[in-house]
Amino acid sequence: MLRTHNCGALNESHTGTEVVLSGWVHKMRDKGFIVWVDLRDRYGVTQLVFDEERSPETVFKQAQTLGREYVIQVKGAVIERESKNPGIPTGNIEILVQELQLLNAAQTPPFTIEDVSDGGDELRMQYRYLDIRRAPVRNNLLFRHRVTMAVRNYLSEAGFVDVETPYLIKSTPEGARDFVVPSRMNSGQFYALPQSPQTFKQLLMVGGMDRYFQIVKCFRDEDLRADRQPEFTQIDCEMAFVTQEDVLNQFEGLVKHLLKTVKNVEIDRFPRMSYNEAMRRFGNDKPDIRFGMEFAELNALTQGKGFQVFDKQELVVGIAAPGLATYTRKQLDEVIDWVKRPQIGAQGLVWAKFNEDGSFKSSVDKFFDASQLAQWAEKLGAKPGDLMLLMSGPTHQTRTQLSALRMELAERLELRNPNTFAPLWVTDFPLLEWDEETQRYHAMHHPFTAPKPEDISLLDTDPQRVHANAYDLVLNGNEIGGGSIRIHDADTQRKMFDLLGFSKEEAEAQFGFLMNAFKYGAPPHGGIAFGLDRLVAILGGKETIRDFIAFPKNNSGRDVMIDAPATLAQDQLDELGLQQMPSKNP
Ligand code: AMO
Repeated sequence: MLRTHNCGALNESHTGTEVVLSGWVHKMRDKGFIVWVDLRDRYGVTQLVFDEERSPETVFKQAQTLGREYVIQVKGAVIERESKNPGIPTGNIEILVQELQLLNAAQTPPFTIEDVSDGGDELRMQYRYLDIRRAPVRNNLLFRHRVTMAVRNYLSEAGFVDVETPYLIKSTPEGARDFVVPSRMNSGQFYALPQSPQTFKQLLMVGGMDRYFQIVKCFRDEDLRADRQPEFTQIDCEMAFVTQEDVLNQFEGLVKHLLKTVKNVEIDRFPRMSYNEAMRRFGNDKPDIRFGMEFAELNALTQGKGFQVFDKQELVVGIAAPGLATYTRKQLDEVIDWVKRPQIGAQGLVWAKFNEDGSFKSSVDKFFDASQLAQWAEKLGAKPGDLMLLMSGPTHQTRTQLSALRMELAERLELRNPNTFAPLWVTDFPLLEWDEETQRYHAMHHPFTAPKPEDISLLDTDPQRVHANAYDLVLNGNEIGGGSIRIHDADTQRKMFDLLGFSKEEAEAQFGFLMNAFKYGAPPHGGIAFGLDRLVAILGGKETIRDFIAFPKNNSGRDVMIDAPATLAQDQLDELGLQQMPSKNP
């Protein structure tokens, strides 16, 4: 071994011990007659001292030539430090170095390897291996490891078997575009990378595996955001002979176990809310329930009072923002501009202050007097000092816009405490969604999701009213998991494809293998998949998943370190029977 201890291991109990350490030169202080070096590795930092009098002359001279990020090995005795650093575990000792070996020199790194670095995002991604040397990034990866180990232990204990499924497959419809891989041996044909192992895990249930899990890469070619990467990891699970209740209980157990083991947080029962209730109360199917500001519908109190903006609208809905009655005209105008941004797309916003002294002041004083505003306040649960904010328009759109405002204000009011964990099951999703653009139904979850048995008769008459046996797990306003009870008979599956606009031939060509499998004794089954990156990020107190991925892609889906994607050489293209397209990113 090139070391007897790591750089985080030594303390005063080792005083007098001869040790060998290896690591990176984190920092150096050269006083001319004495050189201090902070030696760093994954485990911590240990101070080395090279002393003109106490270290051999050649060693002392060599120490003076070291630079940041040089890799060295030293031998010396552990001694008590004169000026101690209580902030780190090794802070009471230092190593008086007798031997020094340069293992590798280093160029000056392009940014500082410190907790707060001077390097911008793009630069740090380009040199991600240096970024990983920084404690915050390293700690995020270690944290991810703890979460995945806890997941594996829990699921294995519960009888789930880790089975690998293929990456070179045929398109699975999860709603995004596929990444495709040309096949050399089957010229003109392509594999698709899985958007999820959905069909395979169902086939494992037909195969009698009973309980399956996999921590697995999934690939989706979709627009990227802070919580989305083109390749991401799922904790993918499936169980046979279960009802929705069984699945919810099993995986509530998993998330509880994670909260307990990695955060020491205990939560008794996760609340549940139907999709309709979530939309009505929070305008969102993944509500953040760490704070209130719940919606109240104000049609009855606001319509027919001569205020044209509200009259005839499908929905007038509001929230009460705690303590914001102090907002100035300028601040209110800024909020109005915020909702009018194209990302939100609202026409405007009506505000009404419920002042501390009990008086009211609103942007619609011409139409509504104090007694009417008091009724709004009552309906919205507003207290003196609160600001009421109202929007109106088509139901779904207005809810979505007000929900965005609710989240924005919660952010400003610091109500989204990253150390509070508020899980929530959202259930009873609609089975189908009507898409205006394509004039077709889309499966809200995916086409393998079973309708609620009591709604099956509506499939022929009023498909939009059919609810699904589908559920999402929401944590602090983020969708971290989703699943369903599956269709397990060929006839219902065929009917579903029909509703989704597949011709019989198309359905057969794409999913014949699944419908065929259902003819050979498929057990009732259901499951769930968690977004591991999201789960880890939220448990780690963040919402940007990139921080918890060792080698993430940037917002254009590029890996700037290895410079991918890239063009192919002509002979490779020829072999694949492909033609070079003009590249947008030369
Ligand atoms: P779904 O599409 O809901 O379900 O995905 C499950 C979870 O995966 C996470 N997720 C993502 N994370 C990061 N980047 C992305 N681009 C991304 N897309 C999804 C989310 C999401 O909740 N086969 C079904 C599961 C099932 O029915 O069992 C599925 O994939 O946290």
